[in-house]
Amino acid sequence: MELQNIIFTDAHKEVREKARTIAIELLLPHAAKHDKEESYNEAAMAEAAKQGLLGTWIPKEYGGSGVGILGLALVVEELSKCDPAFGVAFAVNALGSIPLIIGGTEDQKNTYLPKVASGEYACAFALSEKFAGSDAGGLSVRAEQEEGGWRIFGEKKWTTNGSRADLITCFAVTDPKSRSRRISAFIVKNTDEGFSIRLDEDKMGIRSVPVSETVFNGVFVPDDRLLGERAGLGFKHSMMTLDWARPGVAAQAVGTAAGALDLAVTYATQRKQFSKPIVSFQMVQAMLADMATETEAARWLNYQTAALADAGKSVSKIAAMSKCFATDTAVKVATDAVQIFGGYGFMENYPVAKYYRDAKILQIYEGTNQVQRLIIARNLVKEAGKMEHYTSVIPKETQEAFGGELVGGNC
Ligand code: CAA
Repeated sequence: MELQNIIFTDAHKEVREKARTIAIELLLPHAAKHDKEESYNEAAMAEAAKQGLLGTWIPKEYGGSGVGILGLALVVEELSKCDPAFGVAFAVNALGSIPLIIGGTEDQKNTYLPKVASGEYACAFALSEKFAGSDAGGLSVRAEQEEGGWRIFGEKKWTTNGSRADLITCFAVTDPKSRSRRISAFIVKNTDEGFSIRLDEDKMGIRSVPVSETVFNGVFVPDDRLLGERAGLGFKHSMMTLDWARPGVAAQAVGTAAGALDLAVTYATQRKQFSKPIVSFQMVQAMLADMATETEAARWLNYQTAALADAGKSVSKIAAMSKCFATDTAVKVATDAVQIFGGYGFMENYPVAKYYRDAKILQIYEGTNQVQRLIIARNLVKEAGKMEHYTSVIPKETQEAFGGELVGGNC
């Protein structure tokens, strides 16, 4: 395990405070209304842009505040505490623009990132398709090269923020015969001819942020909107982006859990049964104690992940752990919060039901938790090859039975 200091600078504290104020003043009082109406909280996003929060993860030289992935995690956690759906509405701007930070040319970074940071360009990340979800390499959307650029054909599914986005990072097959260089990423604008939204999905949770089917009907993008210097790097860029963006999902989960916990504690101290506040019953106390402990564990695992990402370390394994643990925790904590609210918890005029509905998608998007466990296990197998000192304590017969090789290969 890498040792990495987690340092909270004044800039981190400042963005967290700004996010907290927006969350309390502009999210909490309106979250139920936006959920019911499936309407976007424009006022809160405008304020986030005004406060410079959309530049949190963008380096200073490209118009951001350079507070990194740790800054992103702090902001998203605060926003999600008061409205988990707004947490993703905000964080998806990071998911859509991180490919530019990771793989963009200097020109592309200078052209687009300042506009993302100012809030002029909202972003989306178009990777998943009807028949390619967990198998992100199995895309069928294709881009064909022609004079001066590329033409994109096909359809994407579950594009979060799709119908609101100005910039869509679209992953498409450019070399069907290649195994490792099959896919490239393109910067698509919502004004490009041939781009359209088929529909915004009718969802169980996160109802105030659109999740769209996006259609690329021969969308022409000039050469300077192929992400990076050359074609074929799209799959790597998508995986590296997800490594950096998963702390954003984990932060949504931590915020969701923390918000549900706060509501449950508040309710348990007010609600009386058998002439006592229900918080005085040990079974309720035990539930709250576990909810708080698991939320705190998820929070610090995520801060560690974010600090490692900001230090430029490889975070594939720990980001998968953080996403998986935090999102499982959010679902469990939100479920227990509903339980503590009892019958009222099941009612939509009480706020806790929305946390329960909003939590579920966290275990699914940006890589299902099954995919996260696969990534963790693959990394463990790789690391096992570096632990030769353990070999000597494994009985010789076992080593011989495996032909002298205890670990190796892919799983
Ligand atoms: N960083 C850099 N490179 C990576 C990488 C990483 N984290 N992970 C894999 N790669 C590279 C590998 O080294 C390999 O390179 P070579 O070909 O040069 O050897 C190549 O990519 C292929 O890697 P794998 O063999 O591991 O690929 P795979 O086909 O087995 O897939 C997977 C691995 C982990 C399952 C991957 O497909 C995956 O992450 N799936 C989930 C996708 C996902 O998260 N989708 C959600 C999208 S966003 C969303 O939810 C919608 C929204 O709007 C919020």
